Amino acid sequence: MTPELMEEGARRIEQHQAALAAAGTNTASGGRSAGFLRPSIPGEVDTTHGRILYLEDVSVSFDGFKAINKLSLDIAPGELRCIIGPNGAGKTTMMDIITGKTRPDEGQVFFGSTIDLLRYKEAEIAQMGIGRKFQKPTVFEQLTVFENLELALKTNKAVTASMLFRLNSTQSDRLAEVLHTINLSDSVARLAGNLSHGQKQWLEIGMLLMQDPKLLLLDEPVAGMTDEETERTAELFLTLKGKHSLMVVEHDMSFINTISDIVTVLCDGSVLAQGTLAQVQSDERVIEVYLGR
Ligand SMILES: Nc1ncnc2c1ncn2[C@@H]1O[C@H](COP(=O)(O)OP(=O)(O)OP(=O)(O)O)[C@@H](O)[C@H]1O
Ligand SMILES: [Mg+2]
Repeated sequence: MTPELMEEGARRIEQHQAALAAAGTNTASGGRSAGFLRPSIPGEVDTTHGRILYLEDVSVSFDGFKAINKLSLDIAPGELRCIIGPNGAGKTTMMDIITGKTRPDEGQVFFGSTIDLLRYKEAEIAQMGIGRKFQKPTVFEQLTVFENLELALKTNKAVTASMLFRLNSTQSDRLAEVLHTINLSDSVARLAGNLSHGQKQWLEIGMLLMQDPKLLLLDEPVAGMTDEETERTAELFLTLKGKHSLMVVEHDMSFINTISDIVTVLCDGSVLAQGTLAQVQSDERVIEVYLGR
């Protein structure tokens, strides 16, 4: 997620909230405005039905090719869901749909029970608390680890305010906590460009964590990492589980084995199988299309 994208999202949400505030409420309970207001408030996600994310019968075609085909799945609050499947199964496209990068042709995508994600733009969705990590690390190489994390907090401010920005004590505490979580406490003053590939990935995850996302989407996070970095990333994800909901796409089966509870297998744009890794690994259809290659 780029700072421009985050800033644009903040601006739109502010505009939206100002419009809603101007409209006021029309009954004692808030009436129609209350129902309308709810989805627009970042930080409020209704998970009373036990789901942080819900997709139903989602389809999208590119030039007549159905990349996502009647895809339905849901994720519980605090869950760490692993998604596996062959190349071209639609895993990244699914994340594109959740984050508003790609509009589906049909289907429903809800964040909690009340937020219809298809009504929002990419930047607004990011602001609501859905963080996305693309495969390639995108940190600011010329800035230090500290500055990168600090920058992740600044994005809600206007440019001039951002230049004068100083961390308050809560933000400093959060930054220290994130540094510890991503195992970079000893590297605060290092330039991000001098970090290893794995450390850059952790830093980018740290930048997402600074925004305290409710749901984190991670696309092939351990690709290109050393075995040791992969092990540390597994530990990191296990500490994030419960505090955040995570959707992790990976091809590295030993990594999946370490972190997974429920594994969803995607194939041809829909769910082929779901269960523990042992269950899906013994599923004949999964072996045929993916694991048996
Ligand atoms: N914007 C697009 N335009 C055209 N085709 C696309 C677009 N995005 C994805 N596709 C196609 O949709 C299919 C699903 O691609 P996707 O990238 O989602 O697969 P994936 O499961 O993430 O695969 P991999 O494991 O290789 O990353 C592929 O055939 C891909 O070529
Ligand atoms: Mg992909």
